[in-house]
Amino acid sequence: MLRTEICDYFGIEYPIMLAGMGGVSMHRLAAAVSNAGGLGVIGAAGLDPQRLRAEIRATRELTAKPFAVDLLAPLPEMIRPHVPVMIDEGVEIFVAGLAVPKEFIATMHEHGMKVVVMCGKVRHAQKAEAAGADVVVAQGTEAGGHTGEVGALALIPQVRDAVRIPVLAAGGISDGRGVAAALALGACGAVVGTRFIATPEAQAAQGYREALLRAADDSTVRTRCYTGKPARCIRNPYIVEWEQDPSRIKPFPEQLGVSYRNKVLDYDGKHGDIDPLRTFMPAGQGAGLIRQIESAAELFARLVAETEAAIGRLRQIVG
Ligand SMILES: Cc1cc2nc3c(=O)[nH]c(=O)nc-3n(C[C@H](O)[C@H](O)[C@H](O)COP(=O)(O)O)c2cc1C
Repeated sequence: MLRTEICDYFGIEYPIMLAGMGGVSMHRLAAAVSNAGGLGVIGAAGLDPQRLRAEIRATRELTAKPFAVDLLAPLPEMIRPHVPVMIDEGVEIFVAGLAVPKEFIATMHEHGMKVVVMCGKVRHAQKAEAAGADVVVAQGTEAGGHTGEVGALALIPQVRDAVRIPVLAAGGISDGRGVAAALALGACGAVVGTRFIATPEAQAAQGYREALLRAADDSTVRTRCYTGKPARCIRNPYIVEWEQDPSRIKPFPEQLGVSYRNKVLDYDGKHGDIDPLRTFMPAGQGAGLIRQIESAAELFARLVAETEAAIGRLRQIVG
């Protein structure tokens, strides 16, 4: 049975965690992954505290299993109003994207919360551990959304060697072969994002899902043009135009304001379908492995079976 130390630590059955994809990993998807035996994560970036509370409660109505909340933490003000809500609602696991939430870790620990930090470099992982984080995610450049420059194959073992706390792996993991590779590289679990967008439970515009089904290995690009920080997404003419003169791109979070005004951030489909020529469609390089829309439960079961099969094949090689 596929099981690592992170399963006991988080109270889950399989070492697979849903990525906290802002706007996409909402209560239906988070609960479906938790019910399947993984760690569901609410992608709460962009939610105000009231909506965060509602998402936590909606998730709890759908599952009695553990789940986490992810927020982007590059500026403490971005999560300060949300921390009391998470404490109030008894959130047990917090995932921080884009920065170490240093100022809040002690308070979170006092309330029994475990803190997971997304890291794109060895130095970030060391900083997270020094600040008291409980788990780090070594996120390779292959990942969808905000991502660094180091490839997962190189990053995961280097992060594993640099910290003592548990390491999870993210970036380009779209099937069980990827999960097995992450485990082989020293991670004790895998974080899967993009692949889960192609499920009915994900909150994603139809055009975004279709773009993922069409995507090949080289369909994504890292660009600052949507948020001001490098984010990997499906290449389209809007990006090509900005990248002709990247000096026009403002720093985070000002460029986000530009994108709001240009109405290019609505990939969740809440305001109707997207314009695939302009809209931000965060996606990892593993999008080329997406061939069908399937339920989160089916996808999760397949990930587990494929991981076990891949490990079985490796065992045979050793003989
Ligand atoms: C649509 C989308 C939105 C994302 N939003 C966030 C976010 O709000 N916070 C965060 O920590 N990471 C976010 N990420 C990055 C994921 O947490 C994760 O690192 C990534 O999805 C893993 O790589 P993969 O997409 O190749 O599986 C996002 C990724 C995607 C694809």
